[in-house]
Amino acid sequence: MTLFPEMFESLKLSILGRAIKNNIISIDAVNIRDYAFNKHNKVDDYTYGGGAGMLMQAEPVYQCHKAISEKIGTDKKIRTVYLTPQGQVLNQTLAMELAKEDELILLCGHYEGIDERVLEETVTDYISIGDYVLTGGELPAMVLIDTVSRFVEGVLNNDESAMTESFSNGLLEYPQYSRPEVWHDKAVPEILMSGHHENVEKWRFEQSLERTKERRPDLYDEFTKTHTKDKKGRWIL
Ligand code: ADE
Repeated sequence: MTLFPEMFESLKLSILGRAIKNNIISIDAVNIRDYAFNKHNKVDDYTYGGGAGMLMQAEPVYQCHKAISEKIGTDKKIRTVYLTPQGQVLNQTLAMELAKEDELILLCGHYEGIDERVLEETVTDYISIGDYVLTGGELPAMVLIDTVSRFVEGVLNNDESAMTESFSNGLLEYPQYSRPEVWHDKAVPEILMSGHHENVEKWRFEQSLERTKERRPDLYDEFTKTHTKDKKGRWIL
């Protein structure tokens, strides 16, 4: 639900575009303005109590939500996410959880926000994509669609890739290299050329740990608190 459905066109490119073509996911950007109830198609108004800025009115949002729910036509209340800096911060765990839903409705706000009463009646989840303020909810909605889609089976063609990349075990991903073997006098780490699978895995895990400790000490602390080591001093995953 958005005032700028064109913004979602870019999701038709690349990996999500392929998933849409293959009918694995579908994205329907619905214009809230189509549910305006006055002849000027106006969807915003001044706030009671004064102050700068306009607010999105309750009724167009409500009618839009109702029309989508009826079109989907299930008895269940469809999980409805309002993208807002006041929400729970999106992370990999939340994305995986949302990917289990058959349907999601995403509500994108503009101006100074949306009339609280329609949020109370339609929204089930308040989600933020980070502690900074954007001009509207469209980019956050696209971020959410992208990360949630990665967990929908068949979206990524390598079944593993959703699980092996950064964050799946709470750590950042190890560095990776491709051809040529030497570039700008920098050689690919020798161990990766050894063909010794076990040693490569060990090296990658150590690199993950080191990189996380250096770049995201918060994640590293969390990892060490939630994992234990075996008798040989290796972390148990
Ligand atoms: N709308 C504006 N800023 C936002 C943010 N950081 N996350 C989600 N929705 C937003």
